[in-house]
Amino acid sequence: MIPFNYLGPVFKIFASLIYPEKFKEDLFSLSREIDEDGYVLDSGSGTGILSRFLHGVRKDLKFILLDPAPGMLKYAPGFTAKVVGMAESLPFRDRSLAAVMIGDAFHHFNDPDRAVREMHRVLGTSGILLIFEIDHEKIVGRFIARIEKVLGEPARFFSPPDLKAKLEANGFTCRISRYTWRYALMGKRS
Ligand SMILES: C[S@@+](CC[C@H](N)C(=O)[O-])C[C@H]1O[C@@H](n2cnc3c(N)ncnc32)[C@H](O)[C@@H]1O
Repeated sequence: MIPFNYLGPVFKIFASLIYPEKFKEDLFSLSREIDEDGYVLDSGSGTGILSRFLHGVRKDLKFILLDPAPGMLKYAPGFTAKVVGMAESLPFRDRSLAAVMIGDAFHHFNDPDRAVREMHRVLGTSGILLIFEIDHEKIVGRFIARIEKVLGEPARFFSPPDLKAKLEANGFTCRISRYTWRYALMGKRS
């Protein structure tokens, strides 16, 4: 297993490097659709890099970081609420959130289907969904997937169309954006 609980200082400094500029632009334009003053869950947040990006353009939003590793959350920004927990069992009421984002974490989840059902449960109607992932069908992605397997991670990587199909089968509408060996699914709870 990757010892995320001890990697907070590393992620605090280097986490932003995996996110391309074009993705940030797409995130910022998607953010216009998030309800004013809404709650945004950063699931598998690590030190909260996605929340840092989004807070830069939407100061009204309330950010909740959720991660099983307290050693990651310790390095989260002060404007966030922190919850030690798992994406498969979210401690939030039905339809209580305006957006859920997952950055480079979905493939670490033990039970991706359960995590998708939980996202659907906690999002309000037309709630925004964003998943940023690594494309294991590209060379760099394949290399990362192999290393993660060797390290004993779940490494549950999905191709962009397969993850899109999974989300749509669970009540989301979404589109794929590609960034060479990375991609994002951005959409809404229907
Ligand atoms: C590669 S890090 C990405 C962190 C952050 N989103 C970023 O982009 O820097 C993956 C994170 O997923 C978390 N994680 C692993 N399993 C999880 C689960 N079942 N539910 C929620 N988070 C999980 C890990 O603790 C780790 O912080």
